[in-house]
Amino acid sequence: MRVMVTGGLGVNGAWVVRDFLGRGHAVSVFENRADTSLIEDVAAQVEVVVGDVCDGPQLTGAVARLRPDCIIHLAAAVDCERNPQKAISVNVGGTANVCAAAVAAGVRRVVYSSSKAVYAPATEEFGFPTYKPIGEDDHLGPIGMYGITKAAAENVMDWYGRTSDAEFVNLRFGTIFGPGRLQRHEGTINTYSSMIELPAQGRRFALEHGGEEGDDIVYVLDVADAISCVALAPAPLRHRAYNVAHGSVLTMTDYAAAIRRVVPDAALEVGPGRNPMNYVDPYYMALDGTRMFEELGWRPRFDAERAVRHYYELVKARPEVAGA
Ligand SMILES: NC(=O)c1ccc[n+]([C@@H]2O[C@H](COP(=O)([O-])OP(=O)(O)OC[C@H]3O[C@@H](n4cnc5c(N)ncnc54)[C@H](O)[C@@H]3O)[C@@H](O)[C@H]2O)c1
Repeated sequence: MRVMVTGGLGVNGAWVVRDFLGRGHAVSVFENRADTSLIEDVAAQVEVVVGDVCDGPQLTGAVARLRPDCIIHLAAAVDCERNPQKAISVNVGGTANVCAAAVAAGVRRVVYSSSKAVYAPATEEFGFPTYKPIGEDDHLGPIGMYGITKAAAENVMDWYGRTSDAEFVNLRFGTIFGPGRLQRHEGTINTYSSMIELPAQGRRFALEHGGEEGDDIVYVLDVADAISCVALAPAPLRHRAYNVAHGSVLTMTDYAAAIRRVVPDAALEVGPGRNPMNYVDPYYMALDGTRMFEELGWRPRFDAERAVRHYYELVKARPEVAGA
């Protein structure tokens, strides 16, 4: 199969690219930043087209030339609260361009990287301390700009799904962690990465508060595996949206304990209380993964300890993917 990955040089994209190559598929990347450092080991096997998903004609031309069977659409703006116009342009307009280019070129399936943000804020039984797993048909009422653009992009995907022969699928990921994140992204969401990467460099890490808060965190290799699973599943898929997560939360205290099992001398301190990331709205939740399991037989393979071990060994072996 020929696969095109938009945003394929990013944190998740790097593992998506590796996953498809590992299964023997031909992979191209459409990406606005020609930095192949996160896929250095496989870059020679990938055609990288440098372009912007907001440039419809450029994207349409690339898709028409490369003729992928499937597009994995990861390119996104994540700094949405500070730059809402750009977020709308890239996340909604860019997604519409991907959909239109796919239909024009006869692409069979488009898989979109949506997010738990479409469910935020997670309140009442869906929040602390019960964290009732949120199903795909539960409430969708995002109030943050990131979630608003993700939900809007899903609606655009659905419209193309209804009006063309191609399949358009939205995957809603839990909180993703993995190598590359500390280097490429800013803010408290990098806490999961800092707690592994700083000890790997022999440095201390202290989290002032938040040890009791839980979240459904999913390792980036599981994300790539889930994307391949959905992309390669026989048509037709039964649903337009699937949660990709564990279905339960891991507290920050338990995450730190998993790190200490892998790195016994890690200098980590995790304070008590809630809201480790200092979010304005409740953004901690569990996503019900039943649909992915029952329909496609997929569930995550990396529990916290296995993920930490893989992540830690990777940044020790390849310091160039680590952050500062
Ligand atoms: N990290 C998470 O916790 C999480 C959770 C749920 C969903 N997602 C989604 O997964 C996707 C990938 O996330 P990531 O963490 O790998 O982000 P990332 O920023 O590391 O990767 C995105 C890539 O897209 C590229 N890009 C950005 N704007 C572009 C444009 N206009 N045209 C072409 N390329 C562009 C960037 O250069 C970057 O390499 C995003 O859609 C994100 O919203 C992430």
